[in-house]
This record gives sequence, C-alpha cells and structure tokens, in this order.
Amino acid sequence: MSANVAELEKRREAALMGGGQKRIDSQHAKGRLTARERINVLLDEGSFEELDMYVEHNCTDFGMEETKIPGDGVVTGSGTINGRLVYVYSQDFTVFGGSLSERHAEKICKVLDNAMKVGAPVIGINDSGGARIQEGVASLGGYAEVFQRNVLASGVVPQISLIMGPCAGGAVYSPAMTDFIFMVKDSSYMFVTGPDVVKTVTNEEVTQEELGGAVTHTGKSGVADNAFENDLEALVAARDFFDYLPENNRMGVPERPTSDAWDREEPSLDTLIPPSANMPYDMHELIRKTVDEGDFFEIQPDHAANIICGFGRIEGRTVGIVANQPMVLAGCLDINASKKGGRFVRFCDAFDIPIVTLVDVPGFLPGVSQEHNGIIKHGAKLLFAYAEATVPKITIITRKAYGGAYDVMASKHLRGDLNYAWPTAEIAVMGAKGAVEIIFRKDIGDEEKIAARTQEYEDRFANPFIAAQKGFIDEVIYPHSTRKRIALGLRKLRNKELANPWKKHDNIPL
Ligand code: HXC
Repeated sequence: MSANVAELEKRREAALMGGGQKRIDSQHAKGRLTARERINVLLDEGSFEELDMYVEHNCTDFGMEETKIPGDGVVTGSGTINGRLVYVYSQDFTVFGGSLSERHAEKICKVLDNAMKVGAPVIGINDSGGARIQEGVASLGGYAEVFQRNVLASGVVPQISLIMGPCAGGAVYSPAMTDFIFMVKDSSYMFVTGPDVVKTVTNEEVTQEELGGAVTHTGKSGVADNAFENDLEALVAARDFFDYLPENNRMGVPERPTSDAWDREEPSLDTLIPPSANMPYDMHELIRKTVDEGDFFEIQPDHAANIICGFGRIEGRTVGIVANQPMVLAGCLDINASKKGGRFVRFCDAFDIPIVTLVDVPGFLPGVSQEHNGIIKHGAKLLFAYAEATVPKITIITRKAYGGAYDVMASKHLRGDLNYAWPTAEIAVMGAKGAVEIIFRKDIGDEEKIAARTQEYEDRFANPFIAAQKGFIDEVIYPHSTRKRIALGLRKLRNKELANPWKKHDNIPL
C-alpha cells in the first residue's frame, strides 16, 4: 500500500512539474504564469479537481516515444468561482509548447462534454504553439473534435477564452467560436497566418503584436473583447465577469445580494441631456447611475465605442445593457456597432439575460465605405437579433431615436416589452434640418423660411409625445426615476413567456 502511495506521489509530483523547472522559469521570465498558476488564480482556493493528470501522447514518430510528459500539455478539470461550478482547461506551454496532440485534444473534449452534461460554463486558457507538428493529421482531427464541441456547447453553456500566449493557425477557431475572448497585452497573439507568411505572400512587414496582439484585436478587428495588462489582471477580471453569467441556458441569471435600493432616485440624471441637441454626453454616466452599486462590466470597450455593451445588475440580477454612445460618432450605428450589438443581444437572449436598451441614435452612419462594406447586411444583424430575442426587453429613449435606427433599437414594434422615453426624447424619421431640406427643397436659400419650417418640424416632432400617443412609447418618465422604472419592469417581466415559431434555426444575415 505504502509503495503504491509513494508511486502516486512520485507521479503527481512529476505531472505538477510539467515541462520542468527550466521551462517554468522561461515562462516566468516572459512575464507569464504557468498553466497551473493560472488555474489557481482563476478558481476558488482549493476547489480545483484535476482530470487526466497522467494522460500521455500516443505519438511514435520523430522519437516522440522517448519523450512523454504526464498531462500532455494541458491541465484540465473543474472547480468553482465564488462557489459556482466551472470547467477549465489550461494549456501548458512548458510541455511541447502547449501544442495540441490527439490526447491533448481528448482531454479538452472531455471537459467540454462534462460541462455540457451538467450545464456548467467552460473557461479555456490558451497558450499553445498550435498543432503538435510531430502528430500531423491526428492533431488536426483533434482540433476539429474541439471545434465541434464548441459549436454544440454554444448557446447551452457560456464559453470564455483567455488568450495568454500564442494562439495561431487553425487553433484560433476554437476561441473564435466561444462567447468571449480576453487577451493579455504584449504577451498574447492570435492570427491565422503569422508575420513571416504575411511577408512572403503580401510583402507586408508587420510585428506579431501589430498583426494579432491584444490591442489590435480589442480595437481594430473586434475579434477579442477585452485586453488586460498581465495574466493576473486578466484572471481576476475573468472571475469578476463570471459572476454575471448564468451557469447555462436553463438556469436563469445568478442573484447576488445588494444594498443598493431598487427605487434609488438620481436627480443628477434630470440634467444629463445637454441643452443643445448636437452636444454629446457620456452614456456611461446613465449606465453607472442606474445599475446596482455602479458595477458595470463592459464588453469590447475599445471597439465600436459608438455602441456600449456590457453587464450590470438590477436588484442583484444580471441585465445586459446596450446603449448608443453620443460621444463617439454621435452614437450612429455603423457596421462594427451593428455586429458588436447584434452578437451581444444574441448572447443575452440565448442565456435568458434581460436586455435594457438606452437609445440616443441619430441614425445609421452615412458613407461610401459603409455602403460598400455592407452596412445593409451588417445593420440587419442587430435588427434581426433584437427582433428574434424573447427575453424581457426594456427600452429607454433619452434623446434621439431617428429613422431606421429607432426601429432597430428594441422598439415597441420588435416586441419591446416596456418602451419608455425621457421628456427630452425626439422620435422622428430624421433630424429637423435634414427633414426640412428634403420636404421644403424649393425653399432652400430662403433662410427665414427654412428657419421657420425647421422650428415647425422641431415643435411637432422633437418630443416623445407623438410616439406616446400611438402607444409606441408606454410612458414618458422622469430621468431620475430610471432605475426604479427598470427594476419594477424587470420584476413584472420575470415570468415572461414568449416563443418564436418552430424552425430548425433562423437564417441571420451573416
Ligand atoms: C510541437 C512545439 C510546437 C508545435 C512549439 N513547440 N510549437 N512542439 N508542435 N506546434 C515546442 C518547441 O519545439 C519547444 O520545445 C517548445 O515548444 C517551446 O517552443 P519555442 O519555439 O522554444 O518557444 P518560443 O520561442 O516562445 O516560440 C513559440 C512559438 C514557436 C512562436 C509558438 O514555438 C512556433 O512558431 N511554433 C510553431 C508554431 C506552428 O507553426 N504551429 C503549427 C501551426 S498550424 P523545447 O523542447 O525546445 O522546449 C496549426 C494548425 C491547426 O496549428 C489547424 C487546426 C484546424
């Protein structure tokens, strides 16, 4: 018996050392934590239960049978984050560069299968040189097995990817199919083909960081959601973020106690809207003053900042917030904002998270590049997402709601449950000046007439009451009562039941 225990301890110790002290030191020298250290920060202390610690690769080519390392480059298992179950895998760069072998892939698949079986989220930590080159097609097959499970799990359990080192080639497509991607600045990168291949094929010179670093993907490409300074910051943020998410698509949102009164009034919101319609204000102020304790976890803050998406809580329960941001592109909807908003709305709908929409939108962004790059198809994504969503939807128009963008932003016509407007709301086909220049084109040049017509148009349409008269707006509310009205609305909508017609799946304009 004691010999068996000694053997167990010896094997455990060997597995815990991964690729050995030298490679662990090299990982630390790059400012990165090891796979196990990352799991320890991510999960509640002592909660990690490992699976498949002794799994080894089955490769016999290129002398690989001589080098077997227990665990085979990925640490897998389950644990808790603030007491809630989560499945994890963490690629170990110290073992064959974290590269994915057939067995390594099987370990990840087991985690995904278990998570699906019990309805728990999955967090994958990526730090890998890609396909295990010595294994060839076995490794490619392994990737595809993981991809298949990512797709089946999509919309069933939340999937989060933390990119904390290399993630290149086809390997990028597993994180790409998960719900959220966090990256670490100057330490992680994602690309389908690296700088050397890019140089050979297109003659462009670019660094790894410029091509696929955290700043590139959270700003320009929108592939990733949030960027952090280092591993520790990213892992702590992931814990914080996890607390907003439901365990699966059937369990509903988590609840956390709050001391923030549901009927707290915010008198400062009564003066949030500037006196001039063209002056911007920061929509974050409204969000922070509305949610519990001002806690708001923003998704993609550096990409398409003209739309704000993120999670907050009302009465301790998670809500998804989508808001136009007048500070960026005047809050217009463009291609990137539509894609960002559409994807976020679909996540919320898939996981039964109510959506609060704050509207101040002058319309879709005009421009040749927008049209030529497909604003029609992309804009339709946000429209489609809102229209198909069956979760509780509460909409508040603070100022502008013009044109097609009025329709898109969770209007009554798209099955908005509660549509409120502040007294400062202007709901119209377009702004007064543009409208007058079209319907009174013959008067252009006659300043006095145009000014009078503009005034007439503003008096008629620059308010919420015409929409309210038609029942498109349920109530015109005081800005200071916004939190209270949302809280009451969400309470009443808690047992909302609404189903879409039977279909295999929809055909969202991809
Ligand atoms: C096997 C690998 C490996 C791989 C790295 N290693 N990548 N072993 N298969 N793909 C091993 C190295 O041999 C080395 O072993 C250790 O990991 C650390 O690698 P280094 O090169 O020393 O580290 P570093 O200088 O930090 O460079 C990291 C790297 C580089 C940029 C990731 O290793 C690299 O370019 N690797 C190959 C990347 C690649 O081309 N992968 C295949 C992509 S195609 P020792 O024993 O010396 O410590 C792909 C297809 C997926 O992934 C398709 C899915 C559909």
